[in-house]
Amino acid sequence: MTAVLETRDHDVIVVGAGGAGLRAAIEARARGASVGLICKSLLGKAHTVMAEGGVAAALATVRPEDDWRTHFRDTMRGGKMHGSWRMAQIHTQEAPDRVRELEAWGALFDRTEDGRISQRPFGGHTHARLAHVGDRTGLEMIRVLQDRAIHSGVEVYMECTVIRLLVAAGRVTGALAYRRENGRFIVFRAHAVVLSTGGIGKGWQITSNSWEYTGDGHALAYWAGAELIDMEFVQFHPTGMVWPPSVRGILVTEGVRGEGGVLRNARGRRFMFDYVPDIYQGDYAETEEESDRWVTGDRTRNRRPPELLTRDDVARAITREIAEGRGSPHGGVFLDIASKRDPDYIKRKLPSMYHQFRELAGVDITTDAMEVGPTTHYVMGGVKVDAETQESTVPGLFAAGEVAGGLHGANRLGGNSLSDLLVFGRRAGLAAAEFARRQGAHAPVDQAECDAVVSGSLAGFGRVDGENPFALLAELQALMQRHAGIARDRSGLDAALTGLGALGRRAERASIPGAREYNPSWHTALDLRSLLVVTEACARAALERTESRGGHARTDYPNSDGALERMQVVIRRDGGAMTVRREPQPEIPPELMRIIREGV
Ligand code: FUM
Repeated sequence: MTAVLETRDHDVIVVGAGGAGLRAAIEARARGASVGLICKSLLGKAHTVMAEGGVAAALATVRPEDDWRTHFRDTMRGGKMHGSWRMAQIHTQEAPDRVRELEAWGALFDRTEDGRISQRPFGGHTHARLAHVGDRTGLEMIRVLQDRAIHSGVEVYMECTVIRLLVAAGRVTGALAYRRENGRFIVFRAHAVVLSTGGIGKGWQITSNSWEYTGDGHALAYWAGAELIDMEFVQFHPTGMVWPPSVRGILVTEGVRGEGGVLRNARGRRFMFDYVPDIYQGDYAETEEESDRWVTGDRTRNRRPPELLTRDDVARAITREIAEGRGSPHGGVFLDIASKRDPDYIKRKLPSMYHQFRELAGVDITTDAMEVGPTTHYVMGGVKVDAETQESTVPGLFAAGEVAGGLHGANRLGGNSLSDLLVFGRRAGLAAAEFARRQGAHAPVDQAECDAVVSGSLAGFGRVDGENPFALLAELQALMQRHAGIARDRSGLDAALTGLGALGRRAERASIPGAREYNPSWHTALDLRSLLVVTEACARAALERTESRGGHARTDYPNSDGALERMQVVIRRDGGAMTVRREPQPEIPPELMRIIREGV
């Protein structure tokens, strides 16, 4: 069959319209490139809005002693020394300018009493560092970036899913996509492609991610021959809703703890005091009184509440409390801000949380505690990129934001995702535009390749006795939740891989009822292909990493192994099969190592 394809030409296409994609598109357009921005969903619907509590940048408006060095140190230590030092350096040095730029473009950040951008505390950050808009920071960022992108002439393709990147003579030449509305295929010819598709959270049952986050960009890059790194490092945010079942996993912002909220078990014990790791002793308050003094403004010793440990530590502590029988009635723990802040303050600083719990759970958080538990939130791993340009190992293919790996190491600090997407979205857009400028005419489309991809993607139509894509998705999520969640071991990961292999074979026999117009069965069957790649990559990398570090906890290897601290697990497609190898990262330069070890 020869598919009839609508064709669009751009210098640069950007796949994914969250913060990273929008920022990349704005920059590429500003450099004179014609830019197509492709989004799977409606414009504005992005996981960026789930970074609610703030954007991390050493603006030093609230704590004058803050600067990029302390932010760099926190990021490297929070990432358990596994992150890319160069990305962390660029990120922390450039983040303040990116936030100020966003403000100049119209972002309305909360203010200090003397009118500067206000910053709130968050886990793992030495100082109050998160510029915020109540608890809707990501939403405000998307609003501003979207407005700027549209007005700068970026062409937007909404409800359009990319299913294959086109590669010729070793470089990316465009992408093949379909329109969800009518099921028609579309070819984008482009000199450079920026992936900014976000994460892989829909591979787990309990997640803060919505339906779009099926690892499409990771899989597209993998199929195109790019390398993936750190796929074992998945972030389980400590606080998602646990009740009622229909809202399980929805994010409860870390901003609640940043504003003084505390975690208690079913016995009323503030258990995080019991879980401060030895290396952080001295950085955290040791008593409730000391913690309360810090929350209400006495920060002379700057010993933070233990609820502001990094997310990996807090999520594991909560999991242990629940496992040992000290959980709340619906399998979580209690998050209490009502006893620490007055109702007006809570409503002013956390308006979304107030409404979310009132509307969805019937809980008034100004008087009662919330029930919360860990939820799959973010993947630290992703496409291996050059720190300066965000170019992947395939020429002309760039990646920014969550789909790119490296910056966050083994664990991401809250708020660093938003500054990541501003800093590296801009850099990716800039480098993609420059790459595009150096190219000649668009490469011709390989019709035979497109025909094969199109017919492969339509194969399930008309199959009557095949598998139900929704049932396969539910099985995949259950498998990953059970075997590749917060705690993992060899036998579980082996079981995950065996199960994923079987699901992959069954997915090839999926049945798609109905026609191509807005057909959720079909969309799910295609999403499954990406999910099968990223979950296999996660399980294989998790098996390879025989230690516990950050978001990756092996019960059969409970300690960190110094030899693996800077060792990356690299995934790549070779001869149609997924290969795994270890690769040491460049050494951290001595002057940066000194900052990490001794502070500023
Ligand atoms: O908890 C939050 O507001 C999430 C922030 C983030 O993931 O960076």
